[in-house]
Amino acid sequence: MRLRGLILSGGSGTRLRPITHTGAKQLVPVANKPVLFYGLEALVAAGIDEIGIVVGDTHREIRQAVGDGSRFGARVEYIPQTQPLGLAHAVQTARAFLGTDPFVMYLGDNFIPGGISDVVAEFRKEQPDVLILLKRMPHPERFGVAVLEEGRVRQLVEKPLEPPSDLVLVGVYLFQPSILEAVDAIRPSPRGELEITDAIQWQVDRGRRVTPHVIEGPWIDTGKMDDLLECNRVVLDRLPEQRLGTVDAGSRLIGKVILEAGSQVSGSTLRGPCIIGERTRIVDAYVGPFTAIYHDVLIEASEVEHAIVLEHTVIRGARKIEDSLIGRHVVVERGIALPQAHRMMLGDHSRVELP
Ligand code: G1P
Repeated sequence: MRLRGLILSGGSGTRLRPITHTGAKQLVPVANKPVLFYGLEALVAAGIDEIGIVVGDTHREIRQAVGDGSRFGARVEYIPQTQPLGLAHAVQTARAFLGTDPFVMYLGDNFIPGGISDVVAEFRKEQPDVLILLKRMPHPERFGVAVLEEGRVRQLVEKPLEPPSDLVLVGVYLFQPSILEAVDAIRPSPRGELEITDAIQWQVDRGRRVTPHVIEGPWIDTGKMDDLLECNRVVLDRLPEQRLGTVDAGSRLIGKVILEAGSQVSGSTLRGPCIIGERTRIVDAYVGPFTAIYHDVLIEASEVEHAIVLEHTVIRGARKIEDSLIGRHVVVERGIALPQAHRMMLGDHSRVELP
């Protein structure tokens, strides 16, 4: 059975502002690789190489990062969605690309470290109308929630105030082309979107076979900072060590430290797991566990731990930065005067926690 892949990569990423004022949330790096790339790789690993990416306002950036898909071993087509009117609307928009093939829909900011090859194999074998991925979560009201009965899906509700179960919908769905009929039949939800959750419920109501697959391993919706940091932690734990940068005699590397090409470490202590990006310099500094410093960054006379720092940023003389996500082209510096004052220039939606 030939399957297509549909990755949704629109949306405005409000929960990751201000980072997403200037960039797509799907391109925020996890262990120095855009989160979207992990999804693409998971599809290719599951034998899916015809991939459509639904794009919105950030289409230029996404196209530039992914290109024609050849370096992932895929053929990628871009499908513009002019307005973010919901996941089911994205499916409608992709109709010409999907044709009459079954497909996997993958939300571009979702991350499943274990990949999706096993569920894709199950879908190929059992051929249900829909296969949904579920996971038990502590705050189900933030997601779509499922109620099961004798191993079958009975009810699906989008972000219910009082969740009927703790089984939430993971952002990966496997569909037969019959979903196209469902997305046309439903009406917009209270939040004004055509919900894929409602389209699946429409099929449940008509007695179609909707199969649940509860995943036991980790799943992370990377749309929020804490979840992104957690994802970074999980991936860093799994990466192999690599030392492509240079380290001077005055530095100490402890545990798994990944140095990308052209990185330079001097007079510093690095405690892994952590990753230092291409051409990044770490000078007289400490970089602690679960930290990913992207390319062309300078960290000098500072301590950084459990953090993600994006490209072209400078951190100099900062005592300790922890549990943080720092954007591109940011400068964090110790001021020379006014020891009791904090002096800052922050963009809209920035967040600073002072001691
Ligand atoms: C969407 C779906 C929701 C699902 C979630 C997973 O929510 O509507 O059912 O649980 O993705 O990430 P959204 O991210 O659009 O709020």
